[in-house]
Order: sequence, then structure tokens, then C-alpha cells
Amino acid sequence: MKLNIALLAGDGIGPEVIDQAVKVSNAIAKKFNHEINWTPALTGAAAIDAVGEPYPDDTHEVCASADAVLFGAIGHPRFDNDPSAKVRPEQGLLKMRQKLGLFANVRPTFTFPSLIDKSPLKRERIEGTDLIILRELTGGVYFGERGRKDEGETAFDTMTYQRFEIQRLAKKGFEMAMKRSKKLCCVDKANVLESSRLWRETVQAMEKDYPEVEVSYEFVDAVAMRLVQWPKAYDVMITANLFGDILTDEASVISGSMGLMPSSSVGSKVSLYEPIHGSYPQAAGKDIANPLATVLSAAMLFEDLDLSDEAQAIRDVVNKSLAEGIVTEDVAEDGKAYKTSEVGDWLAANI
Ligand code: IPM
Ligand code: MN
Repeated sequence: MKLNIALLAGDGIGPEVIDQAVKVSNAIAKKFNHEINWTPALTGAAAIDAVGEPYPDDTHEVCASADAVLFGAIGHPRFDNDPSAKVRPEQGLLKMRQKLGLFANVRPTFTFPSLIDKSPLKRERIEGTDLIILRELTGGVYFGERGRKDEGETAFDTMTYQRFEIQRLAKKGFEMAMKRSKKLCCVDKANVLESSRLWRETVQAMEKDYPEVEVSYEFVDAVAMRLVQWPKAYDVMITANLFGDILTDEASVISGSMGLMPSSSVGSKVSLYEPIHGSYPQAAGKDIANPLATVLSAAMLFEDLDLSDEAQAIRDVVNKSLAEGIVTEDVAEDGKAYKTSEVGDWLAANI
């Protein structure tokens, strides 16, 4: 198979972890007789520095015409500490999600047998966790009306949802639940927010189309507690953009490191694959970041292109590296840590 993949390394540790995913994917291509044509393009602070905006039209062209997009991370501390900055790297990410129509963000949470004790949570609570948070990605408070009034003394962000936005996300959730344990949890704040009441109303109306799926409705604050208390209670969860952003960072604690969790963002056209960790500027350029989240994102990419053996080969080699301790410092035992690039080389060599 011939694959055209857009490669958006982005900022911070993005380029380093992306390099390892490329090595691994190329090894997969060689083994399974595929041809991957990588097209690099600029995003984030790197794009602001080069052309003055974080998601240039050229980059959009590259993404829109690719079979898939592999993405690293976006963000730079020089913007975080400057609330008056007019152009911010994160705007590029939001623009990209919107322009590519990536309305559903699939964030799985699972444990790795060899890393269970890396989690600050007790083994018996997390062992066997296997859940998916399906986060709405192109609506809600991230995209609602925002601004200042009263001469800057009042600021507002609006959480707006339209029924069709909830329906298309929920549809993916129901379909996913049908392929798994047929359990779906709608996470909202319907005791307070009108937009959440529209979520509940919409999802309730869809229940009749999926009679086999057992649907529960829970408030996001309670879920924040239950998720780390008893994650095995959950399978597929659907939720609004901001709630999903917060809950997925929380859920990464279950797996033991933010450096492990992959994600995909899907819509009607091309899909995008990225680690859930951010740009981790403190580690940038040091060759210490964990590349596994990005490597596992590449596995999700192959899986979605119906290349399941290829995806499984990646997951297998990742598990092998963890079992044999070929890992970066965030998950290393007793100080024996490998560099980002060494882990990537080992994975590629062991495909
Ligand atoms: C994520 C990130 C982004 C988000 C930031 C970088 C804008 O935290 O992908 O979860 O909030 O969506
Ligand atoms: Mn986030």
C-alpha cells in the first residue's frame, strides 16, 4: 500500500518524539511492503517564527490531501507567560482541528502489565483498566463566543453546543460501545449547565437506536473522582471538549505516565494522530522524552487504515521494550534510562 502521511512535528519535544514514530513506521513499511511518503509541514510556535502564523494555509493543504496526519505537540513557554500575545501556538491546533473537521478525539486509557506499579494508584484498582474517552473536539467553550467587556474588567467564554454536534459525537460513542462491552457513559454537568441538558436530551433520544447499549449519565465532578477511584467502572465515555481535556490528563495517571497515551482525532475527512502529552518544553532538545505515546499513535493510524497486523506489530514491540526495560527516564527503574532516540532505534530494530 502507498501511504501519504503529513508530518507535523510542532514544538518542544514534538520533533524528537515524531522522529521515533517515523523510524518505527518506516520499519513497519519495510516489513509489510508498504511505501510511506512523509510530507513535513510547519505548525505551532515553529510556524509562527517561520511565517507568522501557527497553522499556515500551506500546512492545511498538506494535511487535507494526506491519507493521515501524524502530529507531535504544540506550545511554547514564551507565549504562556504573555497573556497579551496576539498570535499563540495553540490557536494553530484549534484552527487545524476545526478546518480538518476533527470533531471526535479518541483517547484510550489502558495499563501496561510491566508498568502497573509506576502508577501512584493501587494495583488492584487499575489493573485491567481499558476505557476510551471520546472527547468532542470542535465545539463547546473552546470555540464559543469570548471576549472582554467593562473596559477589560470582565471576561467571558461561552459554552455553546448544537444538537448535531452532540449527535455525531454520540453516534461514534454508541458505535464504539457496540464493538466493545456495550457500555456508554455520558459525562456532563446537566445539574447546572443548559448545554449539558441538551447533551442528555440528545443522547437519551438516541438510546432507542442502540437497544443493546447500556447508557449511564454522570456528572463530570463525580466522574473526576470515580475515574481514579475505580476506572474499571468505565468503558466508552462521551463528553464535551473542556471536560474531556481535563479528564484525559487525569486518566493518564492510571497508565503511569503522560508519555504513554496515544490519541486519534477523527472527522469526516482525514484523521490526525497525536500523543496526548503536550510540548513539555523543559525536556525539549534533551533526548529524554518518552516517544511511546507518539509511537502508539502511529499504531492507531495503521489500525484505522485497516492495517491491523501492522498496528499489532507496533503494540507488541512497545510491550517488549517495556518488559525489557528499554525505556526513557519517566518510567525507568533504578536509574537505568535510555534516551528518546535509543528507544526509537531499539523499537525499529525489533520490528
Ligand atoms: C490537548 C491540549 C490542547 C487542548 C491545548 C494544547 C490547546 O491540552 O490536546 O489536550 O486543550 O485541547
Ligand atoms: Mn489537554
